[in-house]
Amino acid sequence: MFQKLQQKWGVSHRQFWIIFIVFGLTGTTTAILTRYVTAWLGMDASSFWVWKLLVRLGMLVFGYQFILLGYGALLGQWAFFWKYEALLLRKLGFLSQQTMANRQSPTANHQHPKPKTQLAIFASGAGSNAQKIIEHFKNHPSVRVALVVCNKPGAGVLQIASENGIPYLLIEKERFFRGDTYLPVLKEYGINFIVLAGFLWKVPAALIEAYPQKILNIHPALLPKYGGKGMYGMHVHEAVIAAGEKQSGITIHYVNEHFDEGAPVFQAVCTIDEKDTPETLAQKIHLLEHAHFPIEIEKIVS
Ligand code: GRF
Repeated sequence: MFQKLQQKWGVSHRQFWIIFIVFGLTGTTTAILTRYVTAWLGMDASSFWVWKLLVRLGMLVFGYQFILLGYGALLGQWAFFWKYEALLLRKLGFLSQQTMANRQSPTANHQHPKPKTQLAIFASGAGSNAQKIIEHFKNHPSVRVALVVCNKPGAGVLQIASENGIPYLLIEKERFFRGDTYLPVLKEYGINFIVLAGFLWKVPAALIEAYPQKILNIHPALLPKYGGKGMYGMHVHEAVIAAGEKQSGITIHYVNEHFDEGAPVFQAVCTIDEKDTPETLAQKIHLLEHAHFPIEIEKIVS
């Protein structure tokens, strides 16, 4: 259950536990403060229950959110909790549906002439692969990571983008699946190659047509096995272990209109021991991904 939640939030293991602690501290602090506030307002057992309820609701709706942000900031998770609050406000209709976050002018970080390859990383998870790709191409003479595209507010990859001064685009499902809605933004950032690194939505045909043989995906198994709809994240490793496979690995492939079916360009294999669990296999796969994905991208774009 924890792992699913971690995936949903798109954060690292460490971040996940810190976030958990923040929620715990916030709940306890809100409960204690509520008691103080009701006492300060002179409320006791004989007070009219509606007033007590209103105070408690006020603390829950407003106090809780501020305390959450406070603890979040204290424990270094401001970005996660700020996005969490923004999402809440958007759901409640207090904020408009915003698609561009930390938007910079596409030329803002262009101290150098435009490189030959302007990469966009599409990712919506913790972003460990995105991180490796960004590190690999830092100061690269002909490849620049120019944009991170993400569909999950609060995903770890957004923090990674911010820390590295890379603009990111937060996309919305309905607009994305309309097909070419986001093309102008990609063009504006001069994107001429796309890598999917933990991006779970199917890429619409219009985007594939606009970037023929220029969209790569990484899959955490040896395709064609363990691919297709629903085969993502831990589901893949659980299926591999359940089938008693002796090896698994990674596949880097071009993207076509079907999940995980585009032409493969690279595979790397790891062995599965009897004591391996989906979790330990996931770690092995991540190591393979980090070692190979940036290098394979470089080979292809060069
Ligand atoms: C990777 O395992 C990748 O193969 C899959 O999604 C995962 C993303 O992990 N497509 P991370 O967010 O890069 O850590």
